[in-house]
Amino acid sequence: MVRIGIIIGSTRPGRNGEGVARWIFDKAQRRTGAEYELIDLADFGLPHLDEALPPAMGQYSQEHTKKWADTIARFDGYILVTPEYNHSTSGALKNAIDFLGNEWYNKVAGFVGYGVYGGVRAIEHLRLVFSQLQVATVSAAATFNLMTDFENMSTFRPAEYHEASVTALFDQVESWSEALGEVRAREQVQAAA
Ligand SMILES: Cc1cc2nc3c(=O)[nH]c(=O)nc-3n(C[C@H](O)[C@H](O)[C@H](O)COP(=O)(O)O)c2cc1C
Repeated sequence: MVRIGIIIGSTRPGRNGEGVARWIFDKAQRRTGAEYELIDLADFGLPHLDEALPPAMGQYSQEHTKKWADTIARFDGYILVTPEYNHSTSGALKNAIDFLGNEWYNKVAGFVGYGVYGGVRAIEHLRLVFSQLQVATVSAAATFNLMTDFENMSTFRPAEYHEASVTALFDQVESWSEALGEVRAREQVQAAA
């Protein structure tokens, strides 16, 4: 069974991201094509990148890096729930992505954004970041507007029309996660030969 991690991309006290991610996770649990798990960045307490060697070498020295790497390695694909901060994603999420290498390669990412304009600029930045990490990013995305999908800009009350984009997001992430699993398996065979 394909495994997909839903990553809460904000660690800010009082963050809106947790409500959005839990709503997505609730929908995900009704899916039959993959197993979903919620990954909360705040649980990892990652400092600013503090590994001496480049992540591509996979030689992690810090316990927090090993814990983060073991978690990310378990999944075939990810749904990143990202806020928009100054037209990009959160520093915490970018830093967490930067910590790792091989754990991301040849996997799949889809995005859920939220912000004044649905977090679309954060999503587009993340697509660029993941292209360097050989992560395939799906086209479908869910984008929630701080003015219309939240009460008082803090309680998540998504408009009904988002259901269709969330379903498309799950469909695409599940399908590509399965396909990319074959790519990783083929690369493992080639590396062992
Ligand atoms: C540092 C900071 C910068 C922000 N910049 C933007 C922005 O450029 N565009 C936008 O649409 N919203 C912006 N916002 C509003 C956030 O998208 C909104 O507060 C959102 O709830 C933040 O996610 P969080 O509550 O999960 O941390 C910003 C918020 C913060 C804290």
